[in-house]
Amino acid sequence: MDDRISVLIPEEEINAKLDELAARLNEDYKGKHLHVIGILKGSVYFVCELTKRLTMPVILDFMTVSSYGDGMKTSGYITVKKDTDIPIEGKHVLIVEDIIDSGVTMSRLLPLLKERNPKSIRLASLLSKPSRRMAEVDIDYLGYTIEDKFVVGFGLDYAQEYRNLPFIGVYEEAK
Ligand code: IMP
Ligand code: MG
Repeated sequence: MDDRISVLIPEEEINAKLDELAARLNEDYKGKHLHVIGILKGSVYFVCELTKRLTMPVILDFMTVSSYGDGMKTSGYITVKKDTDIPIEGKHVLIVEDIIDSGVTMSRLLPLLKERNPKSIRLASLLSKPSRRMAEVDIDYLGYTIEDKFVVGFGLDYAQEYRNLPFIGVYEEAK
């Protein structure tokens, strides 16, 4: 394996967490239909593995947002690069993210989606780095709280690579 990457959360542990989160969702949304929106690209593995474990009728849609303006510093604004395909009015919506870091993306995206009048809207995130928070975000279904380390794998990238790693690893520049 790439020696810049060390395993933080192994695949088997992620699978157990997916089972646990799906069990909660299956209980909470029993008898309801669920409209899932995965935030591209980081959430792809999480959203696919999670929804495979759900037992209620599920609609799967995707959205691409960026929290950066022209420069590379967090602008506090988000740009919707790809909007959802399917209307969410009157639906029970679950947003699925890879990681909540500064919280800027979600604190902007959730109000924008609420304006579209879903019946309910909740957030699932595989990871959270609370020590980096700039904007408050309530995560309804959280996989893991992690320290302020840069992580890759299971959808998360460094310069667009490593998303396909089946585990979550800490990425460190070569010494
Ligand atoms: P924020 O919460 O608005 O700061 O943005 C979260 C987004 O930044 C995530 O959806 C990821 O795409 C990216 N991100 C934050 N921390 C990491 C990390 O440790 N590894 C890879 N991507 C990250
Ligand atoms: Mg993301």
